[in-house]
Order: sequence, then C-alpha cells, then structure tokens
Amino acid sequence: MQHYDAIMVGAGAAGLFCAFTAGQRGKKVLVIDHAKKVGRKILMSGGGRCNFTNMYASHENFICANPHFCKSALSQYTQWDFIDLVNRHGIAYHEKTLGQLFCDESAKDIVKLLLDECVQAGVTVQTHTELLQVSTECNAAYTLSTSKGTYTCTSLVIATGGLSMPKLGASPLGYQLAEQFDIPVLPTRAGLVPFTLHEHDKAHLAELSGVSVAASAACNDTVFNEGILFTHRGLSGPAVLQISSYWEAGDTVDIDLLPDSDLAQYLAKAQQTQPNALLSTILCEFYAKRLVQHLLTYFKIDNKPIKQYQGKALNHIAEQFHRWQLKPNGTEGYRTAEVTLGGVDTDYISSKTMEVKHQPGLYFIGEVLDVTGWLGGYNFQWAWSSGYVAGQAL
Ligand code: FDA
Repeated sequence: MQHYDAIMVGAGAAGLFCAFTAGQRGKKVLVIDHAKKVGRKILMSGGGRCNFTNMYASHENFICANPHFCKSALSQYTQWDFIDLVNRHGIAYHEKTLGQLFCDESAKDIVKLLLDECVQAGVTVQTHTELLQVSTECNAAYTLSTSKGTYTCTSLVIATGGLSMPKLGASPLGYQLAEQFDIPVLPTRAGLVPFTLHEHDKAHLAELSGVSVAASAACNDTVFNEGILFTHRGLSGPAVLQISSYWEAGDTVDIDLLPDSDLAQYLAKAQQTQPNALLSTILCEFYAKRLVQHLLTYFKIDNKPIKQYQGKALNHIAEQFHRWQLKPNGTEGYRTAEVTLGGVDTDYISSKTMEVKHQPGLYFIGEVLDVTGWLGGYNFQWAWSSGYVAGQAL
C-alpha cells in the first residue's frame, strides 16, 4: 500500500493545477482519473482553443449561494497569475472579446502546460483508475480503494467536476463523496446551455437555424448583451448560454433584438424619409432578409409600405423586436451544457483553503463546488484559483 501526502481525484483543470502546486511545495502527490485521457474538457473548450481566463474576472462573474465565497481564492491566485504562467510557457494567446483570452494555436497547449508543471513537481498522474471506496482512519488519514490498488493519503482533494458532458468523463462521484462526509449538495442543473423551444415556436424558428443576431437576453433581473443564435432545436449563442444559468423552468426570457438602437424612433423617421418603402426593407437595414421575413410572420406583423402604419402601430412593432418574450420549453441538459449549477455547499468549505470545515484533510475544488462562472474563461479561472489555494494549504 503506497502512502501519499495528497491524492487528487480528477485530473481535470482544478485537480492538475492543485497537484503541481502541492508538488512544488515538496509534497508527494498522486492524481487519479477514471478516464483514459487527462483534461478532456480543456481540450474541447473554446472551440479547441481554450478560453483559459478572463482579464476582468472578479467574484461578480460567479453564481454561488454565498456570493462572497469565491473572493478569497480569486484574489490569492488571479487571472494575471495564470497569464504569467501562460507567458512563461511561451503559449501565444489573444483576446477574442470582453477580456476573454484564447490560445492562438490549440487547447492542447494548456494541457501540456499543466502536465509539464506536474512532471517538474514530481507529481504522479494515473488514468484508467476507478475510485471504489474512501475510508478514514482514526488518525485522519484517508484510504482509497481503487481499480489499480489501495492508497493512503493525508490530504484528499476532490476535483471531479460537474455533471455536464458525461461523454467526457463527468460523473456524480464528487457529490456522493460529499454526502459520505455529511456535506450537503445543493440541487444541480445544467448551465451555459442552449434552450429548447415549444412546438409552436420551433415550427416558426427552426428554419432560421444557423442565423445569429446581435441581441440581449434578460431573465430574473440579469441581462447579457452578447448575441443569440437560432439552432434547429431552439436558441443558443453567448447571450442565451449566459442567461440559461439564471433561468428556472417556467420562466420567460426577454430578448431585445436591437439592444443598441431605438427601433421606434428609427421607424418613425423612416415614415417621413422613405414613406413608400416596405417595413421589411427598412428592417433589412438591421437584420438578414431571411430573419426579417420569418420574424414578421412569427410576430404576426403585416408587411406594408411604412406610410400605411397608423397611430401607435410602429411603436407596437418596435416593442415586439425590443421585448420578445419567449418561454423556453427547457434546455438541452447536461448533454451539451458547459457547466453544472449547484453542487457541494460552500457553507461547509473554508473559502481560504477549500478544506471541509468539519473534516480535516478533505478538500473540494473546481466545478464540483456550488460555484459557477459566466461564459468567458471564468470557469477555468475558478479551477486554477481554487486548485491553487488547496495546493498551498494541504
Ligand atoms: P473537469 O471536468 O475539468 O475535471 C474533472 C475530472 O474528474 C475529469 O478528468 C473526469 O474524468 C474526472 N472524474 C470525474 N468523475 C470521476 C470518477 N468517478 N473517478 C475518477 N475521476 C473522475 N470554461 C472556461 O472557462 N472556458 C472555456 O472555454 C470553456 N469551454 C468549455 C467547453 C465545453 C464543451 C465544456 C463541457 C466546458 C467548458 N468550460 C469552459 C467549463 C470548464 O471546462 C469547466 O468548468 C472546468 O473544466 C472545471 O474544471 P474541474 O477540474 O473542476 O473539472
């Protein structure tokens, strides 16, 4: 039976980061993962280019039952610390939009960075390893029975991530271990996920599949102005993915299809300057022709020369474009979600170290916790920051 100072369960973003942080401090560290490859979500992320952090990351970009919880870790290891590390590894990157940093070449560069750091820090990384059972000794050491043998450790770090994308190795093991140690798990659901539509909406909008439009999406006092994309199942695009994390079943989403202009004012002006132009012609100044035709049918708006709209008709049309109230049927669920909302209750975890308050030597880091970032590199920053503080503390 081999003894380690620390064992990380999960060789994803948080587990690998924590492992080399502890290894650099001279700890004897083992990382186990049931998958055949490490860091599979990193490899898939950012369209294969990994949006590895965000220049503007702060605790305000995270959803957690305790909004203050992630402050400490994010300030102990910031986005600038990670950017320094990326620079030291000579990885070229660029800002795509809104502070989102992506690799120029490939997400493989980030996995290589993590593995190179692990090698340098003397960390052992072992894939194809199923964790079968965890038990504790009276001296607070942990015994792990795995498909590859039995190990003991002084510190046990759970970094098994969330439930999204089961094909990439996601499992509920982290939540089960939390329950084994009497730590509540807050209800989980898919986040950063496309919406599916009711049949009526789908019948009208599915033909727009592939069309994207600058738009904002709002729900439960939160709004994101980052664009939407029509898909054959429903709606996606950055603003929709973002708002999905604030949406609960049955809620209506307010979509503004022209968030940066005043359509009523524009149409009123067009009535004076181009009275014979069709409404659709005017709207084509903002949207693709295909989108205009479908939306006019969907909103049940007659397409006439603009001079023929009387009274408040133009205001009413503008209102429909600015305040499209859509009730999604649901979401695409964990199959396509980028993250899992909810998770291990942070009230039971030290925000400074990620250690379980009532269970010395047991740590939870990364997405398994009830900490969910916005779209834009925030979730990886949480993995790095929470992994770092645990790696420093254990
Ligand atoms: P992560 O999921 O990375 O790792 C968990 C590890 O635990 C996995 O290796 C898994 O195999 C292992 N594991 C699970 N169950 C186990 C068990 N029973 N036994 C042993 N091992 C087990 N974020 C971001 O900031 N920028 C981005 O560009 C993207 N893009 C993106 C794309 C896609 C398609 C997805 C699905 C997700 C993203 N994300 C993202 C989110 C980001 O990938 C995610 O938040 C982090 O990977 C979470 O890091 P963790 O280490 O907590 O979990």
